[in-house]
Amino acid sequence: MGNDKPVQLAAEQIARARADKTLRPSIAGFFDEATNTVSYVVHDPETSEAAIIDSVLDYEAASGRTSYGSADLIVEYVTSNNLKVTWLIETHAHADHISAAPYLQDKLGGKLAIGRQIVRVQEVFGKLFNAGTDFERDGSQFDKLFEDGETFRLGEIEGIALHVPGHTPADMAFIIGDAAFVGDTIFMPDFGTARADFPGGDARQLFRSIRRLLSLPDETRLFLCHDYKAPGRDEYAWETTVRQQREGNVHVKDGVTEDEFVDMRTARDKTLAMPNLIMPSVQVNIRGGRLPAPEDNGVSYIKIPVNAV
Ligand SMILES: [Fe+2]
Repeated sequence: MGNDKPVQLAAEQIARARADKTLRPSIAGFFDEATNTVSYVVHDPETSEAAIIDSVLDYEAASGRTSYGSADLIVEYVTSNNLKVTWLIETHAHADHISAAPYLQDKLGGKLAIGRQIVRVQEVFGKLFNAGTDFERDGSQFDKLFEDGETFRLGEIEGIALHVPGHTPADMAFIIGDAAFVGDTIFMPDFGTARADFPGGDARQLFRSIRRLLSLPDETRLFLCHDYKAPGRDEYAWETTVRQQREGNVHVKDGVTEDEFVDMRTARDKTLAMPNLIMPSVQVNIRGGRLPAPEDNGVSYIKIPVNAV
C-alpha cells in the first residue's frame, strides 16, 4: 500500500466496516445472461438509501430495438424494498451493453456518476464516431465525475472511489463499506482479468490497478462486473475476496510479475473478438446512456465506423 493515500483511506474504511456491521451495505446482484453483466443494487439497511451500479438496457442488435426487462427487475426490487435511489453509478463506459441509467433515473431518481477520466473516453470515441460539436466531451452528460480517492456516502455508509484504469482510461472501482465494486479489472479467480485492448486500454496500467485493489484488506468483498463461467465451473459467480484473488487468480495471483502479466494479457487479447454490442454500447454510454439525438424524422441512429477499429 506504501504511500498510496487513496488506497490507505479505502483500507481504513473497509476496516471500520468489518468492525461494525451497521457500516456494511446489503447487496443484490442481477445477472444478465445476454451480456454476462452483473448489475448491483447496494443499500444501507438503516436509511434505505441505495445505489444502482452498472445497469443494463436490453438491446436487440439485428432490429435496433431497446427493451426494459432487465432494468424493470431492478425497478421492481427497489420499489418492493422501499429503497431510495441516491446514486446511479457506472464503473466505466461499457463496450458490451448499453446502460439503463437514464431510464432508471427517470423512474427512481438518483445522481448519475462515473469517473472523471470519462472525458478521455469521450474524446477518443467522439472522434471515432465523428460526433458533431453538439456532443460535449466534458462529462456534462453525468451528474457527478469522481476523482481517485474521492469519498461519498450511501446513507450512513461510507464510500470511496478509486481510479483503476487499464481496461479503459476511465475505469473506477467504487468501495461502499467493505464491498468493492471493481468493474472490469479482475474477474473470478478461475477466469482471470478484463481485456485491455480497446481504444485507450493498457495492460500495464491494468496490472497496476489490479495490484492496487489487491493491496486492500484480505477480507474485502469484491463484486465483479462480468462472469463467463470458467472451465470446470457450471454456475455463474460474481463475488469473491481479495484473499481469494491473491491466492488463486489465474492471471494475477501473488507472484505474477508485471511483465509476465502484460505478455499474457497482450497475447490473449489478440485472440478475442470484439464484443457484439461494442458499437451501439460505446456510442450510447459515452452520452451517459442516452441515444444519439434523433434526426429530422424523429429517429435515433446508431453509427458503425467501417474498417476503423
Ligand atoms: Fe467493460
